[in-house]
Amino acid sequence: MELDSANQTFSELRSLKVDLTFAIGGIKNHEIYFDHLGGNGGDPQGAAGDLIERDFGSVDSWRADLRATGMAARGWAWTAYDWDEGRLFNYLGDAQNTFPVWNATPLVALDVYEHAYFLDYQTDRASYIDAFFANLDWGVVNDWVGRNGIQTR
Ligand SMILES: [Fe+2]
Repeated sequence: MELDSANQTFSELRSLKVDLTFAIGGIKNHEIYFDHLGGNGGDPQGAAGDLIERDFGSVDSWRADLRATGMAARGWAWTAYDWDEGRLFNYLGDAQNTFPVWNATPLVALDVYEHAYFLDYQTDRASYIDAFFANLDWGVVNDWVGRNGIQTR
């Protein structure tokens, strides 16, 4: 059977399209990551805290689940608001372009690629994740919740 290049599993077009999602995903993931770092961490107050308590039961439950997700992932762990379900989920990504879920808005993005922590923590990813939580800027996350019109009640 003759296939044109766009229909082949392995083709230059496929490779370019995959690379496009990797590049765009990488930009967006890192924009979230760096925008919401530089704060004082701690427990979220305001809208983000309300959402997390509503959807995970407590901030500690959310933090434990995101930590476990980050330990299990090969690339990213996200807390995102799913507009269809009307609630937060913690999602896992193995690369810049896996595995986003449609119609969900990421509010927390935890980079667990080795490049994010190896210089400072070597293989101690758990301590890096502790440092991530300790430096989150909840004011930025609260701003995203408000700007996106996410209802907390
Ligand atoms: Fe990164």
